[in-house]
Amino acid sequence: MVHVPTRGTLPARVGPQIRTMPEYGPSKMSRQSYTDPVQYELEREHVLNKHWLLGGRSEDFPNPGDWITFEGHGETIVITRQPDGGVAAFHNVCQHRGPAIVGELKGCRARRFTCPYHGWVYDTTGKLVGVPEREDFSEEHLRDVRAPKVAADEWGGFVWINLLGDKAPSLEEGLGADLMADLGAFGMDGMTVYEVVEWDVPVSYKAIVDGFNEIYHVTELHHSPPEFTKACRKAAFHISGDNYMCFVPRPQHLDKWDENFDHHKWAICHYVVFPNTVFNCNPEHIQVFNPIPLGVDRTRFLCWQLIYPGDMADPEYAEYFARMSEHWMTLKGVVGEDIAIYEQLKRTKQSSGYREHILSDHECKIHRYHETIALKIRGKNWDDVK
Ligand code: FES
Ligand SMILES: [Fe+2]
Repeated sequence: MVHVPTRGTLPARVGPQIRTMPEYGPSKMSRQSYTDPVQYELEREHVLNKHWLLGGRSEDFPNPGDWITFEGHGETIVITRQPDGGVAAFHNVCQHRGPAIVGELKGCRARRFTCPYHGWVYDTTGKLVGVPEREDFSEEHLRDVRAPKVAADEWGGFVWINLLGDKAPSLEEGLGADLMADLGAFGMDGMTVYEVVEWDVPVSYKAIVDGFNEIYHVTELHHSPPEFTKACRKAAFHISGDNYMCFVPRPQHLDKWDENFDHHKWAICHYVVFPNTVFNCNPEHIQVFNPIPLGVDRTRFLCWQLIYPGDMADPEYAEYFARMSEHWMTLKGVVGEDIAIYEQLKRTKQSSGYREHILSDHECKIHRYHETIALKIRGKNWDDVK
């Protein structure tokens, strides 16, 4: 049958002995960071171009020469499968006069990429390997030319990219050992994509991350039943460097509420990888939310539904699959409720009546998230300000 995630020997993250909230307290913050084009440019430079971002799903380019593209915040990146099974990535930018080298979003079994303008040729790592009428150029100008390298690595069945290229910290450093161990228990690399849904939403990517950094809205917006609202009061929020973990006990398992509470089995486990990757994990399925900025207040919002694979001829698996399908239909409706709020935020983003946010201590992750962005813009990390 399907994989059953379990805490095993991992530390308890939620339970009667675990503190529910970091010491942040209620706070206020300016609304400016959602609409300020100057800050957005600084975020492109210091946040989006320096941290690990979700590039796509590994199963979408399984064979050597297969490739996918990433498009977001003014960047276009090609990610390729290498002959040794590893991954490489480079800016999809012809170094001759600048157009994108590949026009399609993905492809198979490529050996070379040829720019459609004058025919410069790049290998699958982005290195320039061919120039028509080469004798007309200066050899010095052509020496070591390549489409700039982007760091790429795989974990959890996803390919991750970092625009710092060779200067990027390791993916392990970006995700953090605690988060990797906890999220790793779900075995996402063995899961399969049920569906990916994409929305174009008229707000900052940060407004979307905010919605996943609190559970305060689920009662009103998502009409959650009173027992879920009550269970939310027992949720534990953890700050893990730039990232976050949050565990909400599922009401039907509160009878097991003791120091051995197995959050992988009995809670909704929620992980946010800075700056814009969110994992919402249930024992049987995972949603990955990925708001990719297209502009200061426009976002391409991707939602991946992952389920465990199996044999449809097995009645037990077929029953699981049917349950997952039904649940996913419901969940898309829930995400639609969040999207309806983004439309309301669109109406007020220029309003002189919208000045600041008043946050409860249960919304402390929002405060911390925006503080982290401000810190990065100043070229600092949390370790520098401890
Ligand atoms: S712009 Fe690409 S070959 Fe000229
Ligand atoms: Fe929501």
